[in-house]
Amino acid sequence: MRIAVIGRGNVGGGLARLWRAAGHDVDEFGRDGGDATGAEAVLLAVPPPAIAEALESVPRLEGIPVIDATNARGGRPDGFESLAEYVKSLTGGPVAKAFNANFASLYERLGEARSRPSMVYAADDEAREVTEQLIGDAGYEPVSAGGLEAARAVEDFLGVIFAVARAGTGPFVYRFAPPESL
Ligand SMILES: NC(=O)c1ccc[n+]([C@@H]2O[C@H](COP(=O)([O-])OP(=O)(O)OC[C@H]3O[C@@H](n4cnc5c(N)ncnc54)[C@H](OP(=O)(O)O)[C@@H]3O)[C@@H](O)[C@H]2O)c1
Repeated sequence: MRIAVIGRGNVGGGLARLWRAAGHDVDEFGRDGGDATGAEAVLLAVPPPAIAEALESVPRLEGIPVIDATNARGGRPDGFESLAEYVKSLTGGPVAKAFNANFASLYERLGEARSRPSMVYAADDEAREVTEQLIGDAGYEPVSAGGLEAARAVEDFLGVIFAVARAGTGPFVYRFAPPESL
């Protein structure tokens, strides 16, 4: 799959490595932007204040599913329940919220996990399949929280993640286990 990554830091750069290792063709764009023509998915991994500028620097995103990994540590623009819905207002296409509640510092160690770590996500219907594939190809088990209206809950989940990490575990992976996969 051809993927465009916007923001090449811990998350964008780290996922670009994992996805290339899984056989994908990944373009990484920084502040200078780039051309996402032909991409089947876009990952957005920039600081929230840079979201609009970063999306503007990559033209022709129309219709390409955007996976929003940003976290609202400094709040959200007025009028938007979630950063993911803000992203959708800027691109007009399908959006998913994913990769925001998993530590980038452990990307390279996912293979050491005794069972596949989970990643909770929320997605528009048109973005679900590609998001599940890219979550899986990065080394996680996708766990759906529902449509994009659940993006705020997925963003708020970070509060629990950080509280647990600060209480003593440091960065960790987690697993949701429905009864059939206990
Ligand atoms: N770190 C984590 O474990 C983690 C996990 C989940 C989600 N997140 C979220 O993911 C996002 C990225 O986090 P990160 O840790 O990857 O941050 P980071 O390492 O600081 O990387 C951010 C990247 O965004 C780029 N950037 C800044 N402004 C830009 C713009 N206008 N256009 C394009 N690129 C721009 C930066 O470019 P320069 O290199 O030129 O500064 C940098 O490459 C944040 O919203 C964060 O909350 C982080």
